Amino acid sequence: MANLTPFPELSYRQQELYIEDISLTDLATIYGTPLYVYSYSALSKAYREFSEAFASRETMICYAVKANGNLALLRELVMLGAGFDIVSAGELKRVLKAGGDPQKVVFSGVGKSKEEIIFALNANIFCFNIESEAELYRIQECASELNMDANVSFRVNPDVDPKTHPYISTGLKNSKFGVPFDTAIDLYKKANQLNNIIIKGIDCHIGSQITDLNPFIEALERILELIDELKHLGIIISHLDLGGGLGITYKDESPISLAAYAEALLSRLHGFSGKLVFEPGRRIIGNSGLLLTKVEFLKHSPEHQFAIVDAAMNDLVRPSLYDAWHEIIEVTRQPNLTLNEFDVAGPVCETGDILGSKRKLSTKSGDLLAILSTGAYGSVMSSNYNARSRAAEVLVYKDQHYLISQRESFDDLIRRELTDFLTQSSLTKT
Ligand code: LLP
Repeated sequence: MANLTPFPELSYRQQELYIEDISLTDLATIYGTPLYVYSYSALSKAYREFSEAFASRETMICYAVKANGNLALLRELVMLGAGFDIVSAGELKRVLKAGGDPQKVVFSGVGKSKEEIIFALNANIFCFNIESEAELYRIQECASELNMDANVSFRVNPDVDPKTHPYISTGLKNSKFGVPFDTAIDLYKKANQLNNIIIKGIDCHIGSQITDLNPFIEALERILELIDELKHLGIIISHLDLGGGLGITYKDESPISLAAYAEALLSRLHGFSGKLVFEPGRRIIGNSGLLLTKVEFLKHSPEHQFAIVDAAMNDLVRPSLYDAWHEIIEVTRQPNLTLNEFDVAGPVCETGDILGSKRKLSTKSGDLLAILSTGAYGSVMSSNYNARSRAAEVLVYKDQHYLISQRESFDDLIRRELTDFLTQSSLTKT
């Protein structure tokens, strides 16, 4: 039986799976499937756990919007006091629309366009996390054109191995992210010469889904060396941004406890009195959400049994893209169930459209399954591949449920396309 410990808001009550005080079967009846369902209690607990762990220091928790940028979720995070880590003007617009304070926004990303930089300067964000020398000069140019100052930090690659999936390791020497450790001092010196640049911070983000504390400690120690060196050059760092990356339990991982994380970092930070910034995404929202799906058919091939469900890789790409494991459990548990081994597959025309392989389940056509730990990098990475509408999203709190994003309609799918062409049979025949 699946371990529900990482999901304190999930429980079976008389064989029925509940999220908080709502039955998932009821949610499927009301909203249909596939459906993303989030627990407000899980989200707020995860956020508070983070902020409380660092309560002894001036800290800004900048939730990484890329993990899940739904406006209602952002709004709840605003109300909890969160700041935000953004990687595009689009994400900044989401934050502003949700009522977020621009003075709590850090702007990461390797490819900030001029338009995005200008938009962020006008919005008066807290800091740009610069990822290259070329970006430094672009920000200087934009700030000078606007006759404004830009607050900056450099995202430095401490070159430590986060021991996670290579696709989500970002702090290694050859990564496209951040600036190489060895060039950082030189870049700070250059930045210090520029009229419209104000050096505020230093930043690193070494990867995602990290479950070993040591890479975080190594990264911090390297960054502290730089802060010291900069101080000797008269460059004062007023905030230290340690990025995100804290892992969660998908299957059997033991995530780093926030107490251990905070203790390890804070005990090394006595010599730094500035503000601390963190950019957690997955840790806040990952285990606060699940994807509810219905079994369409059971299908048997000589070597496999498939449970073909109505969710697919367009709804949740992580299994196909990273071979990621998401726990899949029955929404209704039959007494004396017989378990069979299934590959849970979606309807998309790709061999890789498998949401979970070799899963022991007791299920049949029409049953509901819950795909767990899908709050982060789930809905946000969904697409319309195979002309499939993206799933609706619902936020649950105790016995209340709120639709926070509608299922896409066919009109939504074709909204960007120009239908003038439909009145003529071909471009060559007029
Ligand atoms: N800050 C920066 C600069 C980042 O690039 C990221 C994630 C975060 C913070 C948040 O990291 P988290 O706390 O969520 O680990 N799509 C992948 C994950 C990509 C992460 C990209 N950067 C996945 O589904 O696993």
